[in-house]
Amino acid sequence: MILSIESSCDDSSIAITTIANKKLIFHKKISQEQEHSRYGGVVPELASRLHAVALPQILEECKEYFPHLKAIAVTNQPGLGVTLLEGIAMAKTLSILLEIPLIAVHHLKAHIYSLFIEKDSIIPLLVLLISGGHTQVIRVESLGRMEILATSMDDSVGESFDKCAKMMGLGYPGGPIVEKLAKDGDEDRFDFPVPLRNSPLIAFSLSGLKNAVRLQVEKCRDESGDISLQDQRDISASFQKAVKLHLLQKSKKIFAKESISDFAIVGGASANRYIRDGYLKLCREFGKRLHSVPLEYCSDNAAMVGRYAIDAYHNGDFTDPNEIDVVTTKKYDNGTLL
Ligand code: KG4
Ligand code: ZN
Repeated sequence: MILSIESSCDDSSIAITTIANKKLIFHKKISQEQEHSRYGGVVPELASRLHAVALPQILEECKEYFPHLKAIAVTNQPGLGVTLLEGIAMAKTLSILLEIPLIAVHHLKAHIYSLFIEKDSIIPLLVLLISGGHTQVIRVESLGRMEILATSMDDSVGESFDKCAKMMGLGYPGGPIVEKLAKDGDEDRFDFPVPLRNSPLIAFSLSGLKNAVRLQVEKCRDESGDISLQDQRDISASFQKAVKLHLLQKSKKIFAKESISDFAIVGGASANRYIRDGYLKLCREFGKRLHSVPLEYCSDNAAMVGRYAIDAYHNGDFTDPNEIDVVTTKKYDNGTLL
């Protein structure tokens, strides 16, 4: 079995996965959403302190599996430095004390492997990763060969939903809040610009759309600064529509070039039904099979880290516990996903 740890942002999670049959034996996640909600985003130092309490609490429940462990896996990049360190400290200690190898896991690769939890992998594969930190299209050819075909020039999809909710004074994370409001909204009421609509660039950008939303939010405020529920709904729906059209327009250009017939959406924002439905139609049009992640594994979790670690274990991709690095890089250019 492999014990895997995830602490790259605001979810403390540990999983135990059987190497031979990929079965998830144990999986627990303690989310800090409530604690960060009043700040409208994740406060790194607070997140780190909460991990320091939650991770040992979850580990306590895993002790019975210790004699069966063959490796420890931990997310070491990318993410918040102070929160990654909490998971890494625990993983290093376990690896040294139990005298078993350590596997350093790239968080974005783990999101891709969330598709394969308790399943065989599907490779080659085209993936749209939309999370709180990233928006990317990646061509996956093997565990070691993942090529970024398009990336975000500024805000990520999840981040733009979070900011949209924050501007309207709603909580965190913004994604589920905005999606829910949008269900009862008029998506054609506000004509928000679809980013890079007339640009040949195959890239993503959401900061311009964010500014358009900000201006509209200000216009909708009454004398006491409040925004009516219907305005919130219409802003959410119109914003969500522009995000979807942007993602689909750029994905279309990639689909026209890439012959791989399996396509997947992963990451926290891939839980969004409206965006999923848009991709369902696009995949039909291009004859591609759409794969998506069960809702419980879309956001950060240790099960996906453990699933990636199984393949890394078979490959012998181990890291010296005294050498493991925290890598906090947030943005990537097109090229190889290390
Ligand atoms: O993958 P994730 O858990 O963490 C990162 O690796 O960043 O993604 C979290 C992000 C948040 O920004 C959250 O607002 C967004 O995913 N999200 C959504 C939805 N559910 C979560 N965005 C849009 N629609 C949703 N239903
Ligand atoms: Zn994530």
